[in-house]
Amino acid sequence: MFSNLKTHPADKILALMQLYKDDPRPNKIDLGVGVYKDATGLTPVMRAVKAAEKQLWEQETTKTYVALAGDPGFADAMVDMVLAGAVARENVAAAATPGGTGACRQAFEMVKMANPDARIFVSNPTWPNHLSILKHLNMPVVEYRYFDAESRGVDFEGMLADLQQVKAGDVVLLHGCCHNPTGANLNLTQWQAVVDVLLKTGGVPMIDLAYQGFGDGLDEDAAATRLVASSVPECLIAASCSKNFGIYRERTGILMAVAQDKGLRTLTQGTLNYLNRQNYSFPPDHGARLVTMILNDPKLRTEWATELEEVRLSMLNLRQQMADELQRLSGSDRFGFIAQHRGMFSRLGTTPEMVERLRAEHAIYMVGDSRLNIAGLNSTTVPILAKAIVDTGI
Ligand code: LMR
Repeated sequence: MFSNLKTHPADKILALMQLYKDDPRPNKIDLGVGVYKDATGLTPVMRAVKAAEKQLWEQETTKTYVALAGDPGFADAMVDMVLAGAVARENVAAAATPGGTGACRQAFEMVKMANPDARIFVSNPTWPNHLSILKHLNMPVVEYRYFDAESRGVDFEGMLADLQQVKAGDVVLLHGCCHNPTGANLNLTQWQAVVDVLLKTGGVPMIDLAYQGFGDGLDEDAAATRLVASSVPECLIAASCSKNFGIYRERTGILMAVAQDKGLRTLTQGTLNYLNRQNYSFPPDHGARLVTMILNDPKLRTEWATELEEVRLSMLNLRQQMADELQRLSGSDRFGFIAQHRGMFSRLGTTPEMVERLRAEHAIYMVGDSRLNIAGLNSTTVPILAKAIVDTGI
């Protein structure tokens, strides 16, 4: 039987992680997978997470099952953090999932159950795993223009023009902030224009919010999601706690479905519970419990928000250093976009051949589409990368 299985193309980001591990060069620089690293190259456990883990270890008396949708306290805390009252709580169905990826997967499955003909509109480019999961589920994908290769910003005219093709019941996948892989984002005026198109076409937005707090701040990064959720009749939100709580391997995420009324919320909640049961039964609890403890305890919450802000500002600082250094070495402003982009990533906009040369000649690892993880840099490696980029002729 197993001989009937086919080989699958390796996930590009994960394959790169392995290549990096296997590279014996001591000066290698990892700008691949989206994991935050501090100036010493460590991905630390956040202070508030450590403190919550200690408390939990002392206080937790049972590991028995909680609920199919996870702890309701987690849903309340996350709905509040993401939506902050933008929509009535009673209209929001929510289920804990294994990471943001789990939330995306459950969202796609629910769409398929609700409307088997739905097409999923995705930005070109988008996170490769969106495409991979959609392919696995055999769901039709339509790309909309997003990245402007010339300016390295958003091709907003192209995006709006392509979204006019959306039909009622199609789903439009949007990155709530910190677009992955490009780092190029819409401003709120542009988001409003997207909302107008959604209202006109009847498209259902699905927002992937994996980097809240990594761009312009916790509330600022949720502003677009709040605007969309409060403007359209129905909306899906896949939120991740992997990055902003630094609990990657704990697999902590949540799928929210904003429904038009309480009755549809109940129906949707039942489907979310059902999908959890079919796919893995109860969702992981440990990370979700830490997040709930942190968000509900003013002291832990302040500690966490302070550290998250340090992380955000350190990435902004690295962006500015990188743009300045490139400006100095290249004598041009053509890399100014790095300081404008937000979140963990920037797409350089160069060819796979150039990316390969950076790897072969300089031991610098970035994803083949020229996405680099800003958080993989530090003040020592910024000048090294800048020089390599200019020397390679990018
Ligand atoms: C990334 O894009 O690098 C992260 O979201 C990690 C992953 O799972 O791909």
